[in-house]
Amino acid sequence: MENEYQRLDAKFAQSLVDIVAAELNKNVNILDDRGVIIASFSRDRIGQVHEAGARMLKAEMIKEFYVSEEDELHLRGIRNGFNVPIMFENKCVGVIGVTGDLKTAEPYARLAARFVEANLQSNARQEKLVGALKEKEELQSIFLNKIIRVQEEERKKISRELHDETSQSLTSIIVGLRILAEQVQNSGEREKILQMRDLALTTLEAVHDMAVQLRPVLLDDLGLVAAAQKYIANYSKQYKILMNIEFNILSRERFATEVEIALYRILQEALTNIVKHAGATQVWVSLYKKQNKLILIINDNGVGFNLDLFKSTHSRTSLGIYGMGERVSLVDGTFEIKSEIGQGTKIFVEIPL
Ligand SMILES: Nc1ncnc2c1ncn2[C@@H]1O[C@H](COP(=O)(O)OP(=O)(O)O)[C@@H](O)[C@H]1O
Ligand SMILES: [Mg+2]
Repeated sequence: MENEYQRLDAKFAQSLVDIVAAELNKNVNILDDRGVIIASFSRDRIGQVHEAGARMLKAEMIKEFYVSEEDELHLRGIRNGFNVPIMFENKCVGVIGVTGDLKTAEPYARLAARFVEANLQSNARQEKLVGALKEKEELQSIFLNKIIRVQEEERKKISRELHDETSQSLTSIIVGLRILAEQVQNSGEREKILQMRDLALTTLEAVHDMAVQLRPVLLDDLGLVAAAQKYIANYSKQYKILMNIEFNILSRERFATEVEIALYRILQEALTNIVKHAGATQVWVSLYKKQNKLILIINDNGVGFNLDLFKSTHSRTSLGIYGMGERVSLVDGTFEIKSEIGQGTKIFVEIPL
């Protein structure tokens, strides 16, 4: 297969011709690897075959050559001048010709050829770097997707375990302690047992909260809308932030599990960020369907932040915002975040259904 950047770019060739031609006040042509003129000072020559150049390229006898005034008379697309092959990765990718007598044309043609070669090389290097970077980013994204999936699986498992096993055992302990307390005569001892029961109760609550944090049963059982509403209700109870909610979806409507989880996690992360970083007094959350798309918007009136600075400094170290974007891309959606110092922050998610 042919390497893309082995081809001379006609636009680049033409701008080079324009520069050299203006400098020399001479005609300059650049031929591609088949001898066709792809750039020329006289535009009407573009597309013509430079016969001498084409012959040389076809014969694969790559060398510099001079076209005399006499040659010019019986060859097509050719002017009297000096011609130099353009080499890239040991291949001749074209020829550059400068018209005029040998003495003046020769050094300029060589200089121009070297210049084109240097440019091709630096383009290729750049392309390689860009390619490597892209590959690295893709790999990173694949790993992150995997992490997100595994993490969700684990959370679900642990949450179930806490809910089904740990909570049940704690409940039995609490009931047992209460019965025991009733049977004990000594009031001091009874007090101690009741204290233990209270401790078990607080632990049960903590375990329950943890299970919900990990993976709300509500999300799996009743769906996104119910789980989000519940989460927001708890949130506004816990923090002094005025919540403005606009959910334009039937509370029973269900979506694909991955979509529900992605949106729920984004809501969680965004609201946590607001408590952690925004210092906001009001938050607007809307969730609605529009033309087969599910849209979630979370907006706060907090301090905002410099997105460019964030992207250049910690987009890769913190999973929060970066993770939101990755979760959305897992379900083929689009994710946008807008923020400005003093202007609050707005998160916009769109997921196709
Ligand atoms: N709603 C917000 N208001 C103000 N700053 C925010 C908000 N959300 C995120 N940020 C800023 O963006 C940074 C990155 O957020 P995130 O990726 O979630 O990482 P983390 O929360 O772990 O710091 C935060 O450290 C904070 O400076
Ligand atoms: Mg965060």
